[in-house]
Amino acid sequence: MRDAQAPITFYRKDYTAPNYKISRTDLTFTLNPSRTKVASRLEFEVWDHSNPDNLPLELDGEDLELDQVLLNGEKLDATCYTQSHTGLTIHNPGREGVLEITVYIQPDQNTRLEGLYVSNGNFFTQCEAQGFRRITYFSDRPDVLSQFTVTLIANEATHPVSLSNGNLIEEKKLGEGLHMTRWEDPFPKPAYLFALVAGRFVCQEETVKKGDGKPALLQVWVEPGNLDKTDFAMQSLKKSIDWDRERFGLELDLDRFMIVATADFNMGAMENKGLNIFNTKFVFANPELATDVDFENVESVVGHEYFHNWTGNRVTCRDWFQLSLKEGLTVFRDQEFSADMMAEGLDEVQADSARAVKRIEDVKVLRAAQFPEDAGPMAHPIRPDSYQEINNFYTVTVYEKGAEVIRMQHTLLGEQLFQRGMQIYFERHDGQAVTCEDFVGAMETALQEAHPELDLKQFRHWYSQAGTPEVSASWTQTNGQLVLTLKQNCRPTPGQAIKPAFHIPVKLGFVEKASGRDVPLQLESNTNALHGDVLDFTESTQTFVFTGLDKPVVPSLLRSFSAPVILQSAHTTDDLIFLAGHDNDPFNRWDACQKIYGKAILDIYLQRGLTDGANTQAAVQIVENLLKDKQLSDGFLALALQLPSEGTLLEAFDGLVDPVAMHFARTTLRDLLACTFGADFKAIYDARNLTGQPYSYNAVAASQRALKNVALAYLVAAGADEELNVAKAQYAASNNMTDRMAALSNIVHNGPGNPPELAEFFERFNNEALAVDKWFMLQATVPASNENVNTLQTVRELLKHPSFTLKNPNRARSLLAAFAMQNPSVFHSHSGDGYALWADLVIELNTINPQVAARMARGLDRWTKLVPALQEKAHKQLERVLDTDKLSPDVREVIGKALD
Ligand code: PHE
Ligand code: ZN
Repeated sequence: MRDAQAPITFYRKDYTAPNYKISRTDLTFTLNPSRTKVASRLEFEVWDHSNPDNLPLELDGEDLELDQVLLNGEKLDATCYTQSHTGLTIHNPGREGVLEITVYIQPDQNTRLEGLYVSNGNFFTQCEAQGFRRITYFSDRPDVLSQFTVTLIANEATHPVSLSNGNLIEEKKLGEGLHMTRWEDPFPKPAYLFALVAGRFVCQEETVKKGDGKPALLQVWVEPGNLDKTDFAMQSLKKSIDWDRERFGLELDLDRFMIVATADFNMGAMENKGLNIFNTKFVFANPELATDVDFENVESVVGHEYFHNWTGNRVTCRDWFQLSLKEGLTVFRDQEFSADMMAEGLDEVQADSARAVKRIEDVKVLRAAQFPEDAGPMAHPIRPDSYQEINNFYTVTVYEKGAEVIRMQHTLLGEQLFQRGMQIYFERHDGQAVTCEDFVGAMETALQEAHPELDLKQFRHWYSQAGTPEVSASWTQTNGQLVLTLKQNCRPTPGQAIKPAFHIPVKLGFVEKASGRDVPLQLESNTNALHGDVLDFTESTQTFVFTGLDKPVVPSLLRSFSAPVILQSAHTTDDLIFLAGHDNDPFNRWDACQKIYGKAILDIYLQRGLTDGANTQAAVQIVENLLKDKQLSDGFLALALQLPSEGTLLEAFDGLVDPVAMHFARTTLRDLLACTFGADFKAIYDARNLTGQPYSYNAVAASQRALKNVALAYLVAAGADEELNVAKAQYAASNNMTDRMAALSNIVHNGPGNPPELAEFFERFNNEALAVDKWFMLQATVPASNENVNTLQTVRELLKHPSFTLKNPNRARSLLAAFAMQNPSVFHSHSGDGYALWADLVIELNTINPQVAARMARGLDRWTKLVPALQEKAHKQLERVLDTDKLSPDVREVIGKALD
């Protein structure tokens, strides 16, 4: 079967402009779940007036039943066009004209959740990246911008609410139980930003004032019964609007801005113009059902989608290779939004620490997910050069590393020049579909307005080169001078063997050993490489001589994680202990702790469980110092006490790894710390266990709970029944999901199988889909170190649970992603049974929802990093998936590259 359909590869270099514009698009939907009629009226004209006559008009379309085509009012016979399974070509359309097309589609058969689909009886669309072509024939590419008018005809009883982009311009009853609404979007947009929603919904709404003083209507739509979960999303939306105005000078440009939540959604949320559609997971939030992390995520995703209104919608992408143009930039913006929200109302020192906490959280994601991607078979530059299936390129590289690349420009330019660059970007490109190069060009202009001698020439390699650069740093300090040598190297990635040096901004400081204070930075030569505290590191090996350093210092490098690189520094263990306690950059304090923990765990791993090494001693020292330091905020301390994730550890180890052994090594250090500092953890816990206090979500309360629950995890890890009872008591007393979940996960992950709390939880929440997801996820993530439970067996049984279905992406992820991507010690079990179960599920999901299947298929991306015995078992299952009949292009690309 393998060669049944050879994969097609698309290349960035092949971009050509379309033959025709479609300046206006009128759509009329007659909504019927099993057979919806879509009638379109497209006004087209040649793209460029120098185009020759008689160029074909090429429209994309998939799985459509074509009824008729009219050109300028005349029905076309089949000789005038060519229909294929990917589209419709009109042979001689003329230089301009009107095309009318009628097709039929089957929304209730659509389990892929791309195009128009039915969820719980309601209609939703998802068009990014190429879903619109499953709705009607169209020029489904982001550089074709069209002004849309949409008419929705639906059954009044079953689908009383019908929404589309823009403004509601007409609404009436049609008789025979039907009603219609008509919507007009004043802004031209590409088809991927089109949306419609129809069904039974209720909304929370508010009117706010736009920048021009005129009112705008904000609405959050949900299915009946869920209005009590929408307050926080509405607040987040209002905060986003204010923040974008204040920090970026960007105004809401619509009279009406709607958010709609659906339980069936492939991704997080979608920024359709004026009609954002969200996974319920990123809208619903109340104390009973959402954890603090859920609240944080709702705020940031609401922000993200709102910020796309400018970075994505007003200025969009020319082609999908430019995806990071909108995603990297918008992630950067949502990260800054969250950081500003976390720091709001705090004094300078506290605000600094709050921002650092957010930065640490973001870097943890980058290291745990993006670094492995950059080191694996799917590695690609943030602006990829090729793809087989664009859906596979909504990656942590395009998004999170993309955001890092924007952040580095922000670091190089500073806030003021960066904002000037944004201004130039919008002046030049508002209303256009552009490229990453256009963005860097705008930033470069802003930079050169202030510093004509500087440029971003070498910086652009970050857009074209994949892989995580490795930076090594060494230094000597003598006679008042510190000579710092930096080297960089980037390992080969698919299709890129050797890479020129990156322009790496290294934010740094020298911390005086005696005082703990930063000393002023002075470069002796090539002084123009230093801008404030940021060093331009641009060569493969570069030496910098700093002067005025009479007293011994410890360099603090890559502060705030100023570049997405792997830093190997010559710090001694003592240096790291010093930095963990005294670095004036909170990020680097945290990172010094992580380095020590990581070294200690790797030692234990290599010494088969022995804990008598120097690094283990250092880890104990670090924790002792942290616990003694009364200046630290709860949020920071919670992060500093947590050990690096298993994924991060596996990646950091240079060699073939056994994830099961790594899990036990990590557990060994955790238990050692837990035993050593049991009393301290108990004290932290007791001081923050404010049972009975009303819950409120705010950054300070959330960080208190975070620290309390980190302490609880240590307590339970080290303890016996008594400590497990602390968790059980917390479960019983909790009035919010954060404490309830923390308690339950400790009980389920450490205690005997099937604790009564698990049943109680299901009983309590079985009508709340998102809570049921949590219930499945908890059980699928019980690690191998819990000897009471056979997690793979549990997962197999849960697959048959009446509440389980692979059709709902959140539910599918709650078991499959949980055990294959968040539970290494079980997934990589030496029997190979984890891989076999993974393959079964990827194969089953492939026919239901290729996009979600392809994400799960990435679970074995890093199989060549496993020890040989595991590699062999993984290989067998990868082959099995590849040999599957009717493998989707989505899954084929992922597995094919893994096996390449
Ligand atoms: N563009 C969406 C976002 O990042 C993500 C998305 C992509 C959603 C594709 C659905 C499909 O905000
Ligand atoms: Zn986005």
